[in-house]
Amino acid sequence: MHHIKKTFILLLTSAFLLSAVVYVSDFSFETTAFTQTWLIKVMNWTHYKVINSTLADHIQKELLFSLLPNQQIQPRGTTVAQTTDIPIYYHVAHPLNYHFILDEPDKCSQNPFLVLMVPVAPHQVDARNAIRSTWGHESSVQGKAVLTLFLVGLTGGPEAQQQLEEESRQHRDLVQSNFVDSYFNLTIKTMVIMDWLATRCSQAAYAMKVDSDMYIGLENLMSLLLAPNTPRQNYITGYLMWDRPVVRDKNSKWYVAEELYPEPKYPTYLLGMGYVFSNDLPEKIVEASKVIKPFNIEDAYVGACLKQLGIAPSSPPDPSQFRAYLEQYKREDFLRVITTILGSPQQLIDIWKDVKRPT
Ligand SMILES: *[C@@H]1O[C@H](CO)[C@@H](O)[C@H](O)[C@H]1NC(C)=O
Ligand SMILES: *[C@@H]1O[C@H](CO)[C@@H](O)[C@H](O)[C@H]1NC(C)=O
Ligand SMILES: *[C@@H]1O[C@H](CO)[C@@H](O)[C@H](O)[C@H]1NC(C)=O
Repeated sequence: MHHIKKTFILLLTSAFLLSAVVYVSDFSFETTAFTQTWLIKVMNWTHYKVINSTLADHIQKELLFSLLPNQQIQPRGTTVAQTTDIPIYYHVAHPLNYHFILDEPDKCSQNPFLVLMVPVAPHQVDARNAIRSTWGHESSVQGKAVLTLFLVGLTGGPEAQQQLEEESRQHRDLVQSNFVDSYFNLTIKTMVIMDWLATRCSQAAYAMKVDSDMYIGLENLMSLLLAPNTPRQNYITGYLMWDRPVVRDKNSKWYVAEELYPEPKYPTYLLGMGYVFSNDLPEKIVEASKVIKPFNIEDAYVGACLKQLGIAPSSPPDPSQFRAYLEQYKREDFLRVITTILGSPQQLIDIWKDVKRPT
């Protein structure tokens, strides 16, 4: 009798243990599978960006870092420049070092309220055309004049330059400066944008630096800018980045040498995908850049200039409107946001069409 009871308890215990093991392994398998799927998706997406855009992958890096702190995920792109080949990369970022090859000096003569400045690689015609047929097409929002311009660096050769000039004649929305257009030179591009705004468009009330792979909810952006509490000066807002550590791994494409930026962390800055500012700032930022040693992380560099100026980035009234990523398309989400990153020019066209459809 006693023996049977013991066996029974043993049996019961092992059954329990077995089911526990099955449960736990099953659970962890599912969790891992989920994480992996998600990671593959994000990394594949990063890969896609790295290959196709010299611009957008900085955003992907920030996104990955903010979603996965303490992870060192490297994009697998084959076209990624190896920082190890470049001893220490010294920029000559101040816009006075460059001049405009293509310019639209009179573009702001109609006193636009808001100017959207889009840094883009010369060959990214598809991205420009998608923007031209969507948010870049809007010239008036809530009765306020809006303008969209693209900023590019040097093309690879005379043929590409001819095509670009043809595109410029057709659309009159291209500004080109004579620096080598590359991922590492994005800080130069941003500073040239600031210079253009300061010298050709100081009459605009607000400006936005917006990447070429973005969805922009112009109505919501305009509502934000027209709200009575929105400052008209020393104002900059977007997706705030706090306490971001400087990447010191020499194999990372976001490596910044201590000689260029000695602090371990960046000052508070706005994620480069899209930040909005009062148009008194470009001139001040260009001025501050004379004393801030340039480094290749354009948005963090603007943050360093703002810190020098004693201007703190503002949190938007509704931070959830500055999105980096929306998981899947839902029209109501897009009706609410000001920014979100998209996967392709075609996606922008499709989503815009659906968001704008009458209901
Ligand atoms: C990676 O992205 C490409 C292009 O967007 C897509 O065709 C492919 O299915 C993706 N792969 C995975 C594993 O998600
Ligand atoms: C990158 O863009 C080119 C055309 O611009 C396209 O042919 C190619 O498939 C894209 N790469 C990926 C990984 O999607
Ligand atoms: C950045 O632009 C400058 C000026 O055109 C050029 O000398 C330099 O080689 C460029 N750097 C990279 C890495 O493209």
